[in-house]
Amino acid sequence: MSFSAPRVALVTGGTSGIGLAISQRLQRDGLQVAVLDLDRPSAREVAAAHSLSFIGADLSQRADCQRAVQETVAALGGLDVLVNNAGFQHIDPIAEFPEDVWDTMLHVLLTAPFLLSKYAWPHLTRSGQGRIVNIASIHGHVASPFKSAYISAKHGLIGLTRTAALEAGEQGFTVNAICPGYVRTPLVENQIADQARTRGLTPQDVEQKVMLEPAAIKQLLSPEDVAALASYVVSPAAWGMTGAVLDLDLGWTAR
Ligand SMILES: NC(=O)c1ccc[n+]([C@@H]2O[C@H](COP(=O)([O-])OP(=O)(O)OC[C@H]3O[C@@H](n4cnc5c(N)ncnc54)[C@H](O)[C@@H]3O)[C@@H](O)[C@H]2O)c1
Repeated sequence: MSFSAPRVALVTGGTSGIGLAISQRLQRDGLQVAVLDLDRPSAREVAAAHSLSFIGADLSQRADCQRAVQETVAALGGLDVLVNNAGFQHIDPIAEFPEDVWDTMLHVLLTAPFLLSKYAWPHLTRSGQGRIVNIASIHGHVASPFKSAYISAKHGLIGLTRTAALEAGEQGFTVNAICPGYVRTPLVENQIADQARTRGLTPQDVEQKVMLEPAAIKQLLSPEDVAALASYVVSPAAWGMTGAVLDLDLGWTAR
């Protein structure tokens, strides 16, 4: 199976970390790529520097999710690939977890992937070569303390992936999730700095003794490692893979 016309991809959180690496990789694979991110000058500059179409949107806002799909289709002529990647982290015990942060995290990490999938659905069906790729996490499988909203949303995203895959099969497109372990991105660099401060450790000790302690391979992944897997999932060769939850986690969840 091969794809005829250049396909259009929308990558959320596409101006930083894993999302930027996936956007660049899909662009190199021959897709036209729009990156969705919070509308900040720095995000617009990153998109422009990499010749990526920019869609400014806040995924905590329902109306922005609908507008983002409409703007992508209007700008690039269709929508064949949706990568739900945007996210952020908040660390607090449940007893002190701010309720407004919980609401926003659940919206950005779980409700927005649902809404974008819903609004993209007719375009992916029309495509005949559609893909949804949800960036979940090892924390879609297992828990760690103080990350209740993040972990709840990532577990939910795996459920959404499997349900959407069952519904999308007859429409001719696939839905899969990728579950990375720790990847060196701004999100993780901030966590390393925070934990070094709160635990009184060096950043190297936070990486080796906290983040990578359960891992078989004691080295952080790179965003490009995740992008290579996303590239395969989006490729024609992966036509028969759907509802899959793909671990790329250094053996973190093997024990
Ligand atoms: N870095 C890791 O170790 C790791 C591991 C597993 C899963 N993940 C997941 O990968 C995804 C990307 O993470 P990353 O490490 O590249 O983070 P990152 O902070 O580098 O990038 C996240 C992007 O999401 C965008 N974003 C956040 N809130 C948004 C909102 N309301 N509307 C629109 N965009 C918004 C940010 O602006 C940013 O560009 C996240 O879903 C994260 O949970 C990351």
